[in-house]
Amino acid sequence: MKANNMNVKKLKILSYGCQMNMAESERMAGALAAIGCMPEADGIENADVILINTCCVRETAEEKIYGKIGELKAYKQQNPSLIIGVIGCMAQKEGQNIIRRAPHVDFVLGTNKITELAAAVESASEHRRRHFVDTDLTAGGMGDATPLRESKTAAWIPIMQGCDNFCTYCIVPYVRGREKSRPAAEILAEINAAQAAGFAEVTLLGQNVNSYGKNLPQENITDFADLIAAADRTGIGRIRFMTSHPKDLSDKLILTMAKSEHVCRHLHLPVQHAANGILRKMNRGYTKEHYRELVQKIRDAVPNIALTTDIIVGFPGEKDEDFAELLAFVEEIGFDSAYTFLYSKRTGTPAAAFADQVSDETKKARLQKLMDLQNKISLKLNEKFVGRRVRVLVEGASKNDPAVWTGRTSENKLVLFAHGNEQAGEFCDVKIEKAQTWVLKGVIV
Ligand code: 5AD
Ligand code: SF4
Repeated sequence: MKANNMNVKKLKILSYGCQMNMAESERMAGALAAIGCMPEADGIENADVILINTCCVRETAEEKIYGKIGELKAYKQQNPSLIIGVIGCMAQKEGQNIIRRAPHVDFVLGTNKITELAAAVESASEHRRRHFVDTDLTAGGMGDATPLRESKTAAWIPIMQGCDNFCTYCIVPYVRGREKSRPAAEILAEINAAQAAGFAEVTLLGQNVNSYGKNLPQENITDFADLIAAADRTGIGRIRFMTSHPKDLSDKLILTMAKSEHVCRHLHLPVQHAANGILRKMNRGYTKEHYRELVQKIRDAVPNIALTTDIIVGFPGEKDEDFAELLAFVEEIGFDSAYTFLYSKRTGTPAAAFADQVSDETKKARLQKLMDLQNKISLKLNEKFVGRRVRVLVEGASKNDPAVWTGRTSENKLVLFAHGNEQAGEFCDVKIEKAQTWVLKGVIV
């Protein structure tokens, strides 16, 4: 099946989960474009190939995705030549179970199998290899297809795959395998290519970017700070990265951020919890005191940097006192925003077998309290922007109102403003007039 001797097929990718999945979906779209399978802008009812790129970090994600896979059965009945593939983290975890539960699925590919995707679509379209399942983590990779990026302004760039940390609640190391860094030359070439294609921003992605380079042969660039410094020298407008693990965030990186021209004033630094007993049981490798010190160093080096975090409530053994300690710490640090999650039991992870699991009712009540507190803090910190003039990278019209445009500040604050002549991908200055919990509102100056 080659692009020049087959009819163009319409591709729809449904992506769930984290930014890494979004980045990988763009690479899958690139790999399939090479065999004449082109993204379909409209609904899935027009698609010839539907891929579901899946997440399994929490049970709710899995339930939602199984629901979506179930819905696709009707499409297959209407159009028997429709190709349905399930890929990514849940595909890795569930493998053959997906075919058993949903025989209308043609193939299941794991997290390391983007290289196999084109062949899987090809053989499904020729009715060879029905119900093909490949979740071998040891061979494969991202492939070298040029990604078909969704955003016209900001490019996701994976710099490493997998995770070696084994936080006791987390399924990621099991479904994505061990940490593997991409060679720096490849990453820098991709940043340069993105810049040449008109992207003003790149986000370097990895489960734990601070341990970048650990398993690479010794070259000029041996760690994440060096990589960031080299990225800064490319001259691309803005550089973001995620996710940083507090145990591996080095003084050298902090210094590099402070000296850089293009690295954004934003750090996503998941704390997960604040009670040392819980952090230990989570196998996070740091204490509350260490985290506090780190934040101080970062704020000293990069004044006014925005800090965001991830927090899990209801981890096994979390007592009222532990939760109170978490609330107090959240208040003390003053995160600009926080992704807050109910602990979700993932079979096969150590924490799933821990005694004293917290009841759903308690978990939910705690989550609500935490969110109420964080919303207050987010609003208070956003209010500091009122009256200030901020540099915004324009993203385009907002989904709800085409007259209102959106952009982001260096701190990753979402800004809404009335549209003038500026185009997506350009920088402009906005005077902030109003602050809300999630957005700033202003006028172009
Ligand atoms: N339950 C709830 N949240 C989880 N996360 C990871 N595993 C779980 C789980 N089992 C959260 C962590 C991580 C984020 C991406 O998802 O906070 O940083
Ligand atoms: Fe999961 Fe911990 Fe690895 Fe993050 S660092 S992906 S939470 S195991």
